[in-house]
Amino acid sequence: MDTEQKLTVSLCDTKKKKPLAKDLIFGRTFTDHMFVMDYNEEKKWHDARIVPYQPISIEPSAMVFHYGQSVFEGLKAYRTPEGEVQLFRPQKNMRRMNHSNARLCIPHFDEAFVLEAIKQLVELEKDWVPEAEGTSLYIRPFIISTEPYLGVASSQRYQFYVIMSPVGTYYKEGLDPVGILVENEYVRAVAGGTGEAKTGGNYAASLKAQVIAEQQGYSQVLWLDGVQKEFIEEVGSMNVFFKINGEVITPVLNGSILSGVTRDSVIALLKYWDQPVVERKISMQELYEAQLAGLLEEAFGTGTAAVISPIGRFSWKNQEFTVNGGKTGPVAKRLYDTLTGIQYGKIEDTLGWIEKVGEKENVRV
Ligand code: COI
Repeated sequence: MDTEQKLTVSLCDTKKKKPLAKDLIFGRTFTDHMFVMDYNEEKKWHDARIVPYQPISIEPSAMVFHYGQSVFEGLKAYRTPEGEVQLFRPQKNMRRMNHSNARLCIPHFDEAFVLEAIKQLVELEKDWVPEAEGTSLYIRPFIISTEPYLGVASSQRYQFYVIMSPVGTYYKEGLDPVGILVENEYVRAVAGGTGEAKTGGNYAASLKAQVIAEQQGYSQVLWLDGVQKEFIEEVGSMNVFFKINGEVITPVLNGSILSGVTRDSVIALLKYWDQPVVERKISMQELYEAQLAGLLEEAFGTGTAAVISPIGRFSWKNQEFTVNGGKTGPVAKRLYDTLTGIQYGKIEDTLGWIEKVGEKENVRV
């Protein structure tokens, strides 16, 4: 625990016009306020505040611009049919952010304090949580290193921000299946690297392959392991699942794969439904042979932004094959309906995953 922390609030003078649901584009519009907190060696994390959303002033020598010492998270606030606002397993994001911090040498923060601050920010901005089907308020916490210094070292100063954006679907396909290019040259991460941390560098490393995939008519990239380029890791910026001969398989967390909150929730739901599910290594060759044998029943990505993204076709070493006739499979559909049902308060939360905003009961993990 850091020193006793307090949250101050300064309100903006004029509120921005909110976009219509039909005009929502992921991550383009931001709410009226944001959370900020500073860190230095002497005071540790301090001066937590909610302030009007505004540009920040930062020295060009700030270390984040040069060596990329930063982490981020992504979670959403959902509006229920009764008009309440709720979060989905937010402690998981707080815990993962500190896990990313540990890898990036960024100081640990008090998870309960920051989650309470996020809830206050969401409560303040609750009119920004959209109502239309499939929309939500995306919450983006992030930490950057701000010390003005060009030496390669861990920064002695940081800033923690939380900004928020009303969003619709992340991928234009929504729940329609996407085409995937299996990437055989570039890799996203290697074991021992930063793949299991949520840090900007991993996403920068993914851009080149994403551009190539799009040029070839595919929406996203399937990442293979960084050493043998044989074993499947992730898809785009999501975790990936396959249903082969009745069993759901997802790559085991091996140090280079992000431990997704949606991934964890999907595994828990499948177990709850007595649907066989296993975390293990799976190679591209095995996937290819399963589809040749007619055993590959479904493939889908999972993530906070897209929830469930079915995969309809793969291209691997210039061979293309489809999954489930290019259509969304029943497991992906059931998972999507159940997860969004719980998130939007339309299905009872029997697994204890929901945190209401505006209520003072916490702390569940
Ligand atoms: C997520 O879905 O959890 C993500 O992190 C996607 C984000 C990079 C846009």
